[in-house]
Amino acid sequence: MIKRPRRLRNTKKIRDLVGETTLIKNDLIMPLFIDETLKGSEKKEITSMPNQYRFSTEGVVEECKEIADLGVPAVILFGIPKYKDEIASSAYDENGVIQKAIRNIKAELGNDLLVIADTCLCEYTSHGHCGLIDYKNNKVLNDETLPILSKIAISYANSGVDIIAPSDMMDGRVGALRKALDENNHTDIPIMSYGAKYASSFYGPFRDAAESAPKSEIKDRKTYQMDYRNSNEAIREIELDIEEGADLILVKPALPYLDIIKIANDNFNIPIGAYCVSGEYSMIEAASINGWINRTDAIIETLHGIKRAGASFIINYWAKEIAKYL
Ligand code: PBG
Repeated sequence: MIKRPRRLRNTKKIRDLVGETTLIKNDLIMPLFIDETLKGSEKKEITSMPNQYRFSTEGVVEECKEIADLGVPAVILFGIPKYKDEIASSAYDENGVIQKAIRNIKAELGNDLLVIADTCLCEYTSHGHCGLIDYKNNKVLNDETLPILSKIAISYANSGVDIIAPSDMMDGRVGALRKALDENNHTDIPIMSYGAKYASSFYGPFRDAAESAPKSEIKDRKTYQMDYRNSNEAIREIELDIEEGADLILVKPALPYLDIIKIANDNFNIPIGAYCVSGEYSMIEAASINGWINRTDAIIETLHGIKRAGASFIINYWAKEIAKYL
C-alpha cells in the first residue's frame, strides 16, 4: 500500500497542521431576547432553550459587556414587546423594546460591539405573522407589509443600530429597506438579509421564547418562507436580494441546509452567514441533558461543519459560551 491517508491523522499535531477549517471568535454572533416587561437585572430562562434568557432593556447591557469582553464581535436582538396589534406598531415605536435596548447598549459599548437588529413583524403582531393579514382572503399581504418594515428599519437605524437584518421573507423587502434607509441618511447601514430562510420546524423553541407563533387561521409561514425541498429557489432568492442591495446573506436553519450554504458560497461573492437556529440548539442541549452525546464536542463539531460548508459567520446560541473555549 503506497497511499495511507491515516499517516496524516496519527497525532494531534499533524491533524492540527493539515486541518482545513478554523473556527474563531470573530465568526460568532450571539442572539439575545429582550423582554419589555422585565426591569433592571431581572432575567427569565426560556423553557425550551435551557441556559438562554430573556433580558430587560437595561440588563441586556451587562450581558453585552460580557459578550464583547469575551471577544464575540456581534449580537442580534429580538424583542418581546409589552403590546401587540394587527400592524406591529410596537416594532416602530421610538420607545419600543429594541429601540431602547439599542440605545442602552450603544451608549455603553459604542464600537466595541456590533448590534444587529432582526427586522420583522411576527414578534409584534397579535396574529404572529411576519406580514399584514388580509382576513377576507386569508392571505399574508406582501406589498402592504413593506412600508411597515421600512418604518421599523428607520427607527432601529435612528436608535443607532449597526446592521439591519430582515427576516420576514416578503418579496422586494431588501430593495424597499435600502431605499428607506438611504432616504433617511442611513446609507452606511448594511443589510444582512435572511436570503434563504426556510419554513422550518426548527424555529419551534424561538417562537416559544419570542411568543411569535402564528395564531390566525393561517397556521404556518409556508406562503412566505421557503420550501425545504428546494435549492434552486435559494439561488433565485439570494440573487434577488443581492440585486436589491443586500450586503450580507444568511442561510437559515443551518444543519439541514448545509448544501444551501455551500451553493450560496460557490455562487455569490458577498459574505454568506448561517443561522444555527433555536431547534438546532435545543436538539443538542436535550441530547446532552440525557447524557446521549458529549455536549462541548457536539457543539464544536456542529459549528465547524457549518463553517466548512462555507459560512463566513454563524449566528448561534452558544456564541458566548464557546468564545470562552476558543
Ligand atoms: C422572525 C425570526 C424567526 C427566527 C429568527 N427571526 C422566527 C420565525 O421565522 O418564525 C428564528 C430563529 C430561531 O429559531 O432561532 N421572523
